[in-house]
Amino acid sequence: MSSTFGRALKISIFGESHGAATGGVADSFPAGEIVDMELLNKMMARRRPGQKHTTPRQESDAVEILSGVYQNKTTGTPLAVTIANTNCHSADYDNLKFVPRPGHADYAAQLRYNGFADRRGGGHFSGRLTAPIVALGAIAQQILARRNVFVGAHLASVWNIADANFDAVKLDRETLLAAGKKDFPVLDDNAKLLMQRAIEAAAIEGDSLGGVVECGVIGFPAGVGSPIFDRIECRLGEALFAIPAVRGVEFGNGFACTQLKGSTNNDAFIAGDPTLRTATNRHGGILGGISSGMPMIFRAAFKPTPSIAKAQKSVDLGTMRETTLAVEGRHDPCVAIRAVPVVEAMASLVLLDFLLGEKPEFLR
Ligand SMILES: Cc1cc2nc3c(=O)[nH]c(=O)nc-3n(C[C@H](O)[C@H](O)[C@H](O)COP(=O)(O)O)c2cc1C
Repeated sequence: MSSTFGRALKISIFGESHGAATGGVADSFPAGEIVDMELLNKMMARRRPGQKHTTPRQESDAVEILSGVYQNKTTGTPLAVTIANTNCHSADYDNLKFVPRPGHADYAAQLRYNGFADRRGGGHFSGRLTAPIVALGAIAQQILARRNVFVGAHLASVWNIADANFDAVKLDRETLLAAGKKDFPVLDDNAKLLMQRAIEAAAIEGDSLGGVVECGVIGFPAGVGSPIFDRIECRLGEALFAIPAVRGVEFGNGFACTQLKGSTNNDAFIAGDPTLRTATNRHGGILGGISSGMPMIFRAAFKPTPSIAKAQKSVDLGTMRETTLAVEGRHDPCVAIRAVPVVEAMASLVLLDFLLGEKPEFLR
């Protein structure tokens, strides 16, 4: 099943951007866990469209829990959520009927589903499908936080403007969760102003920008993860690449490690109790696919939003003639902003899945 992932905790996502709703089923969270709806809704609000520097499409993103929660606690049976689509302008997509958007999934979906894919608003490929991921991920994040495992992310860069990075050795809970409490998810507010200006300028030109989301995890127990295919990077990578528009994922210092010699890239061990620590953390908390006990650090690169108002070349699939297309509608000028809680949600689901499968005693 293409829209399902997970081992001990299986997540299934369904819906289309302009269908009745998007939703997801988690089979299954551990039983007896409090579901804090206020926290869940706060997480949804961070992803919700209609905020400054994101798409003007207004959606309430109200989460309805259909099953798996009784008297505010998980029952341990499949937990289903839906989020109604209330603000669809399908007419915005009329001129896309035969002209695929460059950079979007329209043409590939046309081929894959023999012309039957619902392309209104991007259909099943839309960023809206990340709403149920955030709803289910918020529950996973709460379950982890109760065990002092904290997952937090920030917008590490937009275009060529960088935020401060997480301190990979001394990352504390306050810093980790700081960006998630702000209206614009960065650590350094000077970077925020520069990023916002660049996004506004791109939007005025009818263009869009890409960005990088950096995620950190603290408190995750050492010794979890199984080579070869159940490495933490494999399963986190699988989930992060499932977020639309992700073009790259790196762990620790990632591609930059190729610029270093082994003597500099290696992180020296230092004595610690109960697990060793490392003096530096270029390995990003994962060695051999297994958690080392150091903060986990990884980054996901988001491409510039494909739907842009600037005219671009495409082909009319009705006549097979080249044409130009200026995409109308309400699109995010930079999807990476709203993707920050999505990355947290995906990471929380994967890490909870690891604990359920490999270290269930940690969750008791
Ligand atoms: C939160 C979020 C919001 C998005 N919003 C838009 C959007 O408004 N317009 C758009 O063209 N793409 C948007 N995207 C990206 C597309 O869904 C994505 O580029 C497209 O499905 C093609 O998939 P690919 O980029 O992974 O190849 C968004 C992605 C995310 C994660």
